[in-house]
Amino acid sequence: MCGITGFVGKNSIRNTMIGIKSLEYRGYDSAGIAFINNKKVEVLKEEGKIENLEKFINYDLDSLISIAHTRWATHGAANKINAHPHSAGKITLVHNGIIENYKELKNKYKDYKYKSETDTEVIAVLMNELYSEYKDMLKTLNKAIEILKGSYALAIINSDYPDTLYAIRKDSPLIVGVKDSDTMLASDVPAILHFTNKYYLLDNYDIVKVDSKGVRFYNDNKEITKRINIYDNSSDITSKNGYDHYMLKEINEEPSVFRNTLKEYINNNKIVNMFDISKYDEIEIVACGSAYHAGCLGKHYIEEYANIKTNVYYASEYRYTKHFYNSNILVIVISQSGETADTLAALKMANDNNVDTLGIVNVYKSSIAREAKHVIYTKAGIEISVATTKAYMAQSLTLLLLALNVKQDSSIIKELFKIPSILTKYINRTYKKIAKVIAKYNHIFYLGREIDYYLALEGSLKLKEISYIHSEAYPAGELKHGTISLMDTNTLVISVVTDDKIKEKTISNLKEVMARDTKVLSITNTSGDFYDYKVDIIENDSLTPFIVMIPMQLIAYEVARIKGYDIDKPRNLAKSVTVE
Ligand code: G6P
Repeated sequence: MCGITGFVGKNSIRNTMIGIKSLEYRGYDSAGIAFINNKKVEVLKEEGKIENLEKFINYDLDSLISIAHTRWATHGAANKINAHPHSAGKITLVHNGIIENYKELKNKYKDYKYKSETDTEVIAVLMNELYSEYKDMLKTLNKAIEILKGSYALAIINSDYPDTLYAIRKDSPLIVGVKDSDTMLASDVPAILHFTNKYYLLDNYDIVKVDSKGVRFYNDNKEITKRINIYDNSSDITSKNGYDHYMLKEINEEPSVFRNTLKEYINNNKIVNMFDISKYDEIEIVACGSAYHAGCLGKHYIEEYANIKTNVYYASEYRYTKHFYNSNILVIVISQSGETADTLAALKMANDNNVDTLGIVNVYKSSIAREAKHVIYTKAGIEISVATTKAYMAQSLTLLLLALNVKQDSSIIKELFKIPSILTKYINRTYKKIAKVIAKYNHIFYLGREIDYYLALEGSLKLKEISYIHSEAYPAGELKHGTISLMDTNTLVISVVTDDKIKEKTISNLKEVMARDTKVLSITNTSGDFYDYKVDIIENDSLTPFIVMIPMQLIAYEVARIKGYDIDKPRNLAKSVTVE
């Protein structure tokens, strides 16, 4: 949550701003920048998206140091006062994370006249106090690390050193991009790709000092050396590539994501290079949001093909329930960003209990990737749209391959290669007409049973998060136990009916709905009289779920488009949720 950038070198303001704009998916309710102008720190901030801030920025200003922030509010409303950067005395900083002992610290420095309601301003006050005592920034930062509790990635300017930028991190991501003698700090790789593909990853409690000579790292009072990483996926240029939205671009990338995943894990019609789950008696899958929904599909596949009992948990719930761990249990955590706080905490809990853990993660060396005992990287590439599409598909496919690695069912493995071109066919269809029907409703129930229900969960989430229509996914068979009272002409049912084993039962449930004058749209591979509107899915046995994903995503996209909402940045959301 929240994105930060910082730049030391030529065209500092321009580089910081290009970077921060590509981190807007981390939060977009206010933004700000601080830069050095004639050896003085200047701060600009605005409520709302970064474009509001940009109007006030002089890109031609000859500044060598700047830091910027895009916010997803945690402490204090989303307004200009609470926007970062925050300053106290000589210190100005931007922050991603949450300071858990901020109240305690605010109390300690209660004479200070706080301007904002944020936990971040307290960090600036603390550092300013420490600096007036030590008169040394490294000592100040070391002491601050000792005192601060919670998570933080911080880029810091001290007006006594207008040529130097400092940074520290704990449990919030921060990378350091380098090119010649210029240096860029950022929360995530997309922010630096316009500048360099070479970067350092920071570890917890690292201190960074950057000036015109370059970057130096410290940890535990000692200077340290770090290994440089090269980001070499040139196809991951973070532009929309001619599409109106990142979401549409990313849906269009799904066939190649699918192909790339198969290329990595299938050779001679056999699954290869895949983590072996066969030695475990039980699997627990833990994730949030769409990753949880991919986990539900994973449960289905692992039970079906690997014959291992599997349960799926919301990470935010998992942390607070009792567990009966033993050495035969594998905990799988799934996360696109690899930074989701609840998922990370669940993973740490499992690690602390000495069970095996496997992370299925999209972002290289993210916190979850580093913390898990084993890791599989999904092959989705950088995903920018807040509503995930290609990463969800990559997670689901990875879980299927994990399961098939145990069964090695050659007929399904062969079928997999047909899927990318079918996906393209479904991407090229139009869903505008059906979207117009959906857009008229204020209440939607997304129904299905078993694997079709797992798909409905994701279809419903996609629709509500970007179109703001109230939508609930429900197991079709459960409807009659209360919820059917909501069925009337003001409600629309969208159903997923593809699974041969259960579709007759689902169809009966839909008949019950239609008998209450509720219109039904079915995404189905079956013909019949159980729908008013139909999205036709071709037969493909066990792989049908991957085909269904495309119309579900494009329907949500088209409805949001009709409504005129900001599809890539839906209200109140952020892509990387690093708070509990
Ligand atoms: C947020 C995003 C969702 C995402 C979920 C889990 O809520 O808006 O799209 O599915 O976090 O994110 P992760 O990065 O852990 O997959």
